Amino acid sequence: GPVYDLHRTVVLVGMMGSGKTVIGRALSARLAVPFVDSDAAIEEAAAATITEIFERDGEAFFREREAAVLRRLLSGAPGIVSTGGGAFLAPSNRAAIAEMGVALWLNVDLETLWRRVRQKDTRPLLRTLDPRATLARIYEERTPVYARAGLQLDVKGDASIDETTQGVIDV
Ligand code: S3P
Repeated sequence: GPVYDLHRTVVLVGMMGSGKTVIGRALSARLAVPFVDSDAAIEEAAAATITEIFERDGEAFFREREAAVLRRLLSGAPGIVSTGGGAFLAPSNRAAIAEMGVALWLNVDLETLWRRVRQKDTRPLLRTLDPRATLARIYEERTPVYARAGLQLDVKGDASIDETTQGVIDV
């Protein structure tokens, strides 16, 4: 698959809770290639958490930082990049990824996503009265967009990190 002959950065895209960060890190360790998580890079540069950035500066500011970080990572040495779940929505981000890398969508079912994200309080978009319904709405809206990624891996809800990592390698 694309990660074996790494001429282009592989950008993991997909919903909150789809495992982009965990699988990106595992891929990087397994293949000895660089890995950057774009949310972590934004947090480091801002010396603030994603939640604090959303609260203090607003989502639009976060999206600007996200686009800038993504471009910087794509213009560097090839490696694995995990994005936040919204990064692939902006057409300009999709264009940059298609031009300088390749997008790989981790496609995970809604129930599994909910099971994973409900335990955490790190997603400002889910700070609503009914976070489960919000997640479902975001899932419906975004699925057709994620489907435009160059590569796709359908991940079973009970797949282990090793299985999913191998799945990405075999895509
Ligand atoms: C977001 C997902 C988050 C983070 C921010 C917005 C989104 O990343 O970038 O809270 O729009 O889906 P994860 O996908 O890593 O949760």
